[in-house]
Amino acid sequence: SEKSMKTPKGFLWGGASAANQFEGAYLEDGKGLSVADCFTAGSRTHRREYTDGVVEGNYYPSHIATDFYHHWKEDVKLFAEMGYKAFRTSIAWSRIYPHGDDEQPNEAGLRFYDELFDELLSYGIEPVITLTHYEVPYALVEKYNSFADRRCVDFFERYCRTVFTRYKGKVKLWMTFNEINTMMHGGEQQTGVRIPEGADRDQVLLQVAHHLLLASAKAVKLGHEIDPENKIGCMVCNPLFYPETCKPEDQIQAMKDNDAMFYFSDTQVRGGYSNKARKLWEARGVQLKTEPEDEQILREGCVDYVGFSYYMSAVSSTRPVEKVQGNMMRMVKNPYVQESDWGWGIDPVGLRIALNQFYDRYQIPVFCVENGFGAEDEVSPDGHVHDPYRIDYFRRNIQELLKAIHEDGVDVMGYTAWGCIDFISAGSGEMKKRYGMIYVDRDNEGRGTLRRIKKDSFDWYRRAIASNGEDL
Ligand code: BG6
Repeated sequence: SEKSMKTPKGFLWGGASAANQFEGAYLEDGKGLSVADCFTAGSRTHRREYTDGVVEGNYYPSHIATDFYHHWKEDVKLFAEMGYKAFRTSIAWSRIYPHGDDEQPNEAGLRFYDELFDELLSYGIEPVITLTHYEVPYALVEKYNSFADRRCVDFFERYCRTVFTRYKGKVKLWMTFNEINTMMHGGEQQTGVRIPEGADRDQVLLQVAHHLLLASAKAVKLGHEIDPENKIGCMVCNPLFYPETCKPEDQIQAMKDNDAMFYFSDTQVRGGYSNKARKLWEARGVQLKTEPEDEQILREGCVDYVGFSYYMSAVSSTRPVEKVQGNMMRMVKNPYVQESDWGWGIDPVGLRIALNQFYDRYQIPVFCVENGFGAEDEVSPDGHVHDPYRIDYFRRNIQELLKAIHEDGVDVMGYTAWGCIDFISAGSGEMKKRYGMIYVDRDNEGRGTLRRIKKDSFDWYRRAIASNGEDL
C-alpha cells in the first residue's frame, strides 16, 4: 500500500552488537577469559574451533576484535550521528566477575560500562543490555563445566544483582540470554559446556537449558525487585521454518522445527514448561534434575517482552534432501528467496510473519533486536564504501516491519539493526562477513588500522530514523 507508514512515538530505532564481537581488550583491566575468547577464527566452510583455553599459535578474533574498548567514544558519536534512540550491547560477564564465581566484582570492569552508559545517555540513546551474549566466564567451564552445574545459576544471579544495582536508573531495558534456543542445536558457544565422555548429549544439553531458564527467571524477578521500571525480555533466534509443501507431514515437520524455539520463549513468557516440552523430554529419554522450587522460580520470572533476532527463513521438509548451513542450524534451501554469499535466505516478508507469530502467541510487546546482512564490503578507490545490497536488505525488512505495525497491529517496541559497525562474525569468526553501517579497517588475520569509515548505508539509515521510517 502507498499510505504513509511511520513508526510510533517512542519507537526504539538503533543498532545492536555484542561485547565479545567488538570490544577486544580481552584481558584488560582485570577481565577474565570468556568462552568466546577460546573460539578460533573459521570461515564459511571451516568451523571455528573451541579450544581448551587459549592455545598458543591459534588466532582468536575476539581478543582484539574491533577494539571498541578503546574506540567507544568515537563509535558512540557515530551512532548518535545516525540518530540512534537505542543501542544494544552486552556486558561481558567476565569483565565484572573475571572467574564467574568471584566474591567481589571487578571495579574497573563496572566503571567501563558506567562511562559507556553515561556517554550513550548524554546523546539521548537508551542502552539495551543483554546480560550475556555467548560470554560465560571460561573459568566456570574449567571448574564446573559451565551451566551443567546448577551452581552457575547462583553465580549468574550474583552477577545480575551487581549490574542491576550498579546501573539502576541508567539501564531500564534488559535481555537475559542471547539466543537461548541455540541450546537445542549444540550450545557450545552459548555456554561453553563440554559433553562428558559417554554422557547422553540430549540429557546434558536440556539440563543446561533448564539451568539457563532458571537463571533467566531469577534474573527477571531480581531485576523487577531492584527497579520496578526495568523491562526484561527473553531473546530467541527465529529461523522461521516454512513447510516445503502443503503435504500435512511437512506442516508437522515445520511445527516441530519451530517448536525448538518456542520451547524457550513459551517457558520464559508463560512462566513454566508446556505439555509439549515435557513430551519432548519423554521422546528423548531425558530426565531433568529439578528441585521442588523450580516451578515457582519459573512462574515468578515471566519476561516483559520478546526480543528476537531474525536474519533468514528456513524450510522444513520430510524428504531426505541436502541441507545447507544457515544461522545456527542446517536447513533446506528455499527456491523462492535469494541468498547472501553465506547462503542465508533473504526473506523480508518472513520478518513480518515472525513479528505476528510472537505477538499472536503471547500478546506482549515484541522487539526485533537483530536483523542485518553479512557481506564482503570493499573500500572503493573514491575512499567510500558502497553497500547498496545492505540498504536494500534493510529497506525491505523495515517495510515489512512497518506493515506488521500498521496492517497487523503488532506492538513492536523497536528495531536494532545488527552490526551497527563492522565486527567479527559469531558463526564464522570472520571479519570479512561484515554487517555494519560503519566500516572498520581490519581483516580476517587481524591486520588493519582499525580506522572507521561511514558506508552508504550510514546516511541511508540516518534518514530512515529521522523520518521515522517514511524515507526509506
Ligand atoms: C546471531 C547472533 O545469531 O547472529 C550474533 O546473536 C551474530 O552474535 C549474528 O553475529 C549474525 O551471525 P554471524 O554468524 O553471521 O555473525
